[in-house]
Amino acid sequence: MKILAAFEEEHELIERVAGSLFRWAEENGDEADAKRFASFFAVYAGGFHRRREEDILISALVRSLEVPADRGPLRVIGEEHRRLELLVSRLAAAADRDAARVLARTLWEHIDKENTVFFPEAGERLPRAGVAELVDRSMTGAEGEVRELGERLLGQYPPLEDPETMRGAGCIACSAFTVSCRGIEAEWWNDWEWEQHGRGDAD
Ligand SMILES: [Fe+2]
Ligand SMILES: [Fe+2]
Repeated sequence: MKILAAFEEEHELIERVAGSLFRWAEENGDEADAKRFASFFAVYAGGFHRRREEDILISALVRSLEVPADRGPLRVIGEEHRRLELLVSRLAAAADRDAARVLARTLWEHIDKENTVFFPEAGERLPRAGVAELVDRSMTGAEGEVRELGERLLGQYPPLEDPETMRGAGCIACSAFTVSCRGIEAEWWNDWEWEQHGRGDAD
């Protein structure tokens, strides 16, 4: 599905710029660059990327497949989107280096759960419900300029990994697992899926 491939490609840039932001926070980068990072994360990662995840992908899942929006994975993703917005606002308002570190870590975990759980599940469910493709929108000129700003920040602050961040795949790597979400199988799978995946794996 083209839109899922586009989202994954956007994730590659966003997670690298998160690494740049982490270097900025750790190595006392120029305070004036906080607003540039915040602009990238508000306009490109937020307005372009996350807005389409919500308006196009999540809407289609809820509309076509009756996947619950008020609990489980979609609730977790929605809450994380709101938290990311707040962190970006804090970064923009005060060059807040603690907010920058939390923002980078939240983005990495968020991207891992979308790439390894949410998108693969959506990519199986939508075609099964007769939705072969979703209509995407193209990037505006302003969003394209901010994307270029992100590329420049990458040159200025080469991405830095956080030794305290353990990245991983699947629900097991998600901090919401067993806290506010019971995991994809318990939340989303129907009887047929349990029959296909659950029992099949156990045999
Ligand atoms: Fe997201
Ligand atoms: Fe995403």
